[in-house]
Amino acid sequence: MAVLAIKGGKKTRESLFPKHPIIGDEEKKQVLEVLESGNISTFIASPGENFLGGKKIKEFEEKFSKKIGTKFGVAFNSASSALHAAVVAVGVKPGEEIIVPPTTFTSTATCALMHNAIPVFCDVKEDIYCIDPNKIEKLITPLTKAIIPVHLFGHPCDIDEIITIAEKHKLKVIEDCAQALGAEYKDKTVGTFGDCSIFSFQESKTIMTGEGGMLLTDSEEIANIARMVRNHGEVILPTMKQRSYRTEFLGWGYRMTELEAALGIAQIEKLDTLNAQRITLGNFLSDEINKISGMSHVKYDNVKHVYWMFGFTYDEKIIGIPRNLFCDALRQEGIPCFAGYVEPLHLNPIYTEKRAFAFKHYEGNAKYGKGVCPIAENLHEKLLINTIICRPPATIDDMKDVIRAIHKIIDNKGELLK
Ligand SMILES: Cc1ncc(COP(=O)(O)O)c(C=O)c1O
Repeated sequence: MAVLAIKGGKKTRESLFPKHPIIGDEEKKQVLEVLESGNISTFIASPGENFLGGKKIKEFEEKFSKKIGTKFGVAFNSASSALHAAVVAVGVKPGEEIIVPPTTFTSTATCALMHNAIPVFCDVKEDIYCIDPNKIEKLITPLTKAIIPVHLFGHPCDIDEIITIAEKHKLKVIEDCAQALGAEYKDKTVGTFGDCSIFSFQESKTIMTGEGGMLLTDSEEIANIARMVRNHGEVILPTMKQRSYRTEFLGWGYRMTELEAALGIAQIEKLDTLNAQRITLGNFLSDEINKISGMSHVKYDNVKHVYWMFGFTYDEKIIGIPRNLFCDALRQEGIPCFAGYVEPLHLNPIYTEKRAFAFKHYEGNAKYGKGVCPIAENLHEKLLINTIICRPPATIDDMKDVIRAIHKIIDNKGELLK
């Protein structure tokens, strides 16, 4: 019997997993070009078209929107900024409600509060962890204006059903694709279904610009409003001879620099290859995990899952090891992982203690706290295990270490529980 690392034995894996992201000569060449041009931010150099950003920003927006399949792209300094702009651009008003899942990153919901609108949390599905369309309609009130579904961990949510509900109730849809660059639902790329969509290029993402984001849409009106939000709510039209410095509504400093756009231009070319590598690694993990009694990883047949993270479901009763202890043991074996995902957002103090100005004048009945989204709570507390190491430059051999460590722990359960 092998001695578990958590009990003082040898780790399954001594070395760290390979470093992400991969930065190649293409990225360096692009960034150097910007440095040599001397134009790092080209938004305010002169009025007119510079309101729309400089050479690299425009190229990045054009290339990324074309890649995903929308008419317009508006680059931001983060996906969180893009989410805030999206809320404004689709016409949500302060005091109105936006339906969001609780199993996601904070800004999927705080983007509503940034506009003094209110997030209403809708529970998720137990198999793919995304918003459950069957639970949306009972949350719709006269105040509901939009839905922000999230394609979580790179697995598309049931976007068709969500669009049908939105059309029936005249709601706007902002797709949160921060974790799902290049994912597909029924052979169509996510980010092309809703009124608009947002993407993240934060360093951990599939393609990255350090920090950065983009809003995509087919609507010129949404794109124009998003551009204004990105520029402190100021309008500068190409026809204007001088910058107006006139604030039309509340916007903020959300502009991306030319340096980030340059990185993005180099990275776009790699998206398909990086996703193909992730899919190879993810499918391997999925097959191996599904062979283990008490563990399951679900991928729907009608989607292309791009495995930004690898989450799987753990049944403590079948495996006989408490989930958190199992995760501790796995980490000690040299495999980075964590129990659950971020705490379901409806349990965060900003909501339970109504610590945002938006709540002061809110006349609706949104509920927060324990019991509001029981599936999300149970996933976080008991069922879900997550790891981010399923990404290049890691290889199948690295994934084999993950599976070996899992088997080692299960095979030595008796020792672990002593
Ligand atoms: C689902 C989701 N939405 C939004 C964001 C925000 O992205 P950013 O860090 O670019 O603001 C993230 C970040 O991880 C995310 O995972």
